[in-house]
Amino acid sequence: MSKARNKRSFEDLVKHINDLLAPSLAQDWPNLPVVRAEGAYIYGQDGKRYLDFLAGFGACNVGHNHSRVVEAAKSQMSKMIHTAIGVTNYESILRLADELGQVTPGDANVFFFGNSGAEAVDGAIKLARYSTQRKGIIAFLGGFHGRSLGTTSVTSSKAKYRTGHGPFLPDVYFAQFPYPFRSTTPDDPEKCGQSALDDLLRLFEYVIEPEDVAALLVEPVQGEGGYIIPPKSWLSALREICDKYGILLIFDEVQTGFGRTGEWFAAQSFDVQPDILTLAKGIANGFPLGATAARAEIMQKWGAASHGTTCGGNPVSCAAGLAVIEVIREENLLVNAREQGAYMLERLRELQTRTPIIGDVRGLGLMVAVEFVKPDTDKEPNSEVVQRILRLALDKDLLLYPCGHWTQVIRLIPPLTVTREQIDKGLDIFSSAILEATIHD
Ligand SMILES: Cc1ncc(COP(=O)(O)O)c(C=O)c1O
Repeated sequence: MSKARNKRSFEDLVKHINDLLAPSLAQDWPNLPVVRAEGAYIYGQDGKRYLDFLAGFGACNVGHNHSRVVEAAKSQMSKMIHTAIGVTNYESILRLADELGQVTPGDANVFFFGNSGAEAVDGAIKLARYSTQRKGIIAFLGGFHGRSLGTTSVTSSKAKYRTGHGPFLPDVYFAQFPYPFRSTTPDDPEKCGQSALDDLLRLFEYVIEPEDVAALLVEPVQGEGGYIIPPKSWLSALREICDKYGILLIFDEVQTGFGRTGEWFAAQSFDVQPDILTLAKGIANGFPLGATAARAEIMQKWGAASHGTTCGGNPVSCAAGLAVIEVIREENLLVNAREQGAYMLERLRELQTRTPIIGDVRGLGLMVAVEFVKPDTDKEPNSEVVQRILRLALDKDLLLYPCGHWTQVIRLIPPLTVTREQIDKGLDIFSSAILEATIHD
């Protein structure tokens, strides 16, 4: 018998969040009750309008509720929400594959569509093992690839994401990711890249022979791990190593994709072609969709029925994905990402000269971050000041989110539609929050 009771108010539900949602979700920051979102803004239950420099964890690249995306989804929804892929076929998934293949790097133009980034990476690992008939997967320290058991196995941005969830996938190994700011040669990223490469070669020598490795799995710019940009030469060297030993190079572009770095994909920003590509987040501006992409020769080895999905690549998400591609093209968002990103870096670097707690300012396109350190130390991570800045900025109506192994970095990722005025407003708030937070340090 169902329990009859009065419908609870939103405020009441928020108060009881821990009785309703799994506490495993990071509910520490800031758990803001929101009711609406549009463009670069989200609207709180408190009646306030917040400038959103998180963009739905980097998914809403064309801005919240872009009218083209809303219309495309509505139109698809009124016709057909879901059928069964493989048993039936529909236009939006085929058209999305056709359009996506025009913008993905190299020849990675055959797709498996799932629902999320984690599924896309799981699929990439399965495809790499299946198509090479090798077991080894080498991921990179500080990397983040998702929360499924497979992707937790290849994630190492924080040990707490792994603790208590093992045993993990076997035959996963970790090599160093170049982190120029925290290397012994911060002014020479190439040397830092070489030292990371040596670490990978040591793995081949001591732990697993390259002929047993199916894939190297790497974020071309580490996201959750701290917005760390490796030298291009290191990514090129990974490509050469893969070619030499028949290893597949997987770029996890779940966070870097769809214009975030100022090109469609970071692979194009670095001019290095992966064999397999994973996509999600920006692909459908917040609708659940992800994809594993590879060139035909690899994908065709994935035998019939060896991988599948129920709702992955559903008609509505695919229709939204098609609208996203059109908007990125027609609103010139790659150019906007490059221009606004360069402007942000310029303003933040100027701020850095006046602020001893800013250790590093870095970015590629609109994937921008500031790393905080304790003053008068040797770059000791300053997660305490990050917490204060986040709170002070939110009090001034700017939503920000941290990242980094020690939660010592603040990422600034507005939608790619962001205007100069919105950037100025956001950075004015950010600067004043930093200066206020510094008073305590
Ligand atoms: C690089 C990267 N890969 C994979 C994922 C997992 O994506 P999802 O949360 O959609 O499963 C994320 C999420 O933040 C990510 O940043």
